Amino acid sequence: MPETSAPPEPVLKKDMGRALISAERIAKRVEEMGREISEVYADIDTPLVLVVILKGATVFAADLLRSLSIPAELEFVSAASYGSGTSPGKLRLAHMVEGPLVGRHVLLIEDIIDSGRTVSAIARRLRKLKPASLRLAALLDRPARREVETMIDFTGFVIPDRFVIGYGLDYAGLYRELPGIYTLT
Ligand code: IMP
Ligand code: MG
Repeated sequence: MPETSAPPEPVLKKDMGRALISAERIAKRVEEMGREISEVYADIDTPLVLVVILKGATVFAADLLRSLSIPAELEFVSAASYGSGTSPGKLRLAHMVEGPLVGRHVLLIEDIIDSGRTVSAIARRLRKLKPASLRLAALLDRPARREVETMIDFTGFVIPDRFVIGYGLDYAGLYRELPGIYTLT
């Protein structure tokens, strides 16, 4: 990930150039994922619980939620790493789900799986809450930098080893509003 100490100059939407993944391709893929997820969970007898990882996954989750044809509830978690961030520190959960997950079918929603550390730490905590099942949906998979083996049940796009922004993904808090996904450099 790039250094975040010096805030970047915000780039206007009109100057972003060609998207790595256009808004149209994202919309189509998210619709497909919604159908696939609805099929996998067609027979469960309680609403699916979407556990959304703040903040990056919120845009994806909002679209995915509306592409489902099964009942679903929303919960949020957020992870922050301890310390100054020079080394990939231990993750702590800054926000945990509010409702009980015992016996519930849980789908963790993430924007991008990079090292795999964030989802593995969160999944470990969620398993302690004894859900009936726990699966992972990620809009983006960047396997080049994986450190922790991660099973992604529903993947939107596999991307090359480039830092990306847009559609909820940020650089230093910016660019989440871009409708497509762009590389920063
Ligand atoms: P991991 O824990 O290394 O798998 O990283 C996943 C988290 O890092 C995601 O939740 C993102 O917030 C963030 N992240 C990783 N790569 C990118 C990127 O290319 N753009 C924006 N955020 C990223
Ligand atoms: Mg994130």
